[in-house]
Amino acid sequence: MRIFQNVQDLGDLRTALNEAFEIKKDRFKYQDLGRNKTALLIFFNNSLRTRLSTQKAALNLGMNVIVLDVNQGAWKLETERGVVMDGDKSEHLLEAIPVMASYCDIIGVRSFATFESRKDDYEEKILNQFIRYSGKPVFFMESATVHPLQSFADLITIEEYKRTERPKVVLTWAPHPKALPQAVPNSFVQWMNAADVDFVVTHPEGYELDPQFVGNAHVEYDQMKAFEGADFIYAKNWSCPGVTRPEDYGKVLSKDMSWTVDTAHMAVTNNAYFMHCLPVRRNMIVTDDVIEAPTSLVIPEAANREISATVVLKRMLQAL
Ligand code: CP
Repeated sequence: MRIFQNVQDLGDLRTALNEAFEIKKDRFKYQDLGRNKTALLIFFNNSLRTRLSTQKAALNLGMNVIVLDVNQGAWKLETERGVVMDGDKSEHLLEAIPVMASYCDIIGVRSFATFESRKDDYEEKILNQFIRYSGKPVFFMESATVHPLQSFADLITIEEYKRTERPKVVLTWAPHPKALPQAVPNSFVQWMNAADVDFVVTHPEGYELDPQFVGNAHVEYDQMKAFEGADFIYAKNWSCPGVTRPEDYGKVLSKDMSWTVDTAHMAVTNNAYFMHCLPVRRNMIVTDDVIEAPTSLVIPEAANREISATVVLKRMLQAL
């Protein structure tokens, strides 16, 4: 595997899940694979889980790891070609990428949506430059539009905890004070569409996800109706994807607190597990009661980020 961006990059999901469970039983099984190989993890944005779990995954595989926080200590980077660089940006991404690539074997990049241009964000302008100019395998550690390491960990978690062969999984929008990107919901719907689950998405009108990700998933605008009989509730905020009104891209259209996941919502489910990628705003997205309940999976879900990253790095090392 040279690129990890979409669910299709993993190939057969059952095989990938079996690999994940094999690694979970013995996470050091492939510790010789990464000997004298270096992973470079580049962060344009903040992170707790991705930073730590991906470093741990690389260490599990015997790799060396370099972490670069672009905005803390590196030169400020220009990303647009043709710009007269007379401002505060000292280095161009077109030099920085091949230089960084010369020090490593595999590159992970986190670069969120900027909301300046829907077109630029959805064309993955930053990540695609890394793919094009690094000459190295590149994995997405949350880009403008996707967060595949998270969705893979989510799928592993659902597989571990499911009580029926084909569980009902609900992705629900929930309120948040700030405009958040669509990367997590985009990936989650893409991965759930590929998985063997009964999948429903619920959100207020105007929050329709991009068709390239949501596909033919069942969308239910009545949140309570969507929750009925659910086995897993996956909560997440996202800003307006601008599908029906491009001028609203990245805007907060609603802060309706009736969408907060609370015990009344959970009461209509099939004693559902609660999931969220974290970090989460308590009592905006989910109440204290729900996130602290025995049915909350937020901690094992985060722990599975180490497993998903180990599988991805193992596959990339095997393809070097
Ligand atoms: N879920 C997730 O990616 O967490 P971080 O933003 O802390 O990495």
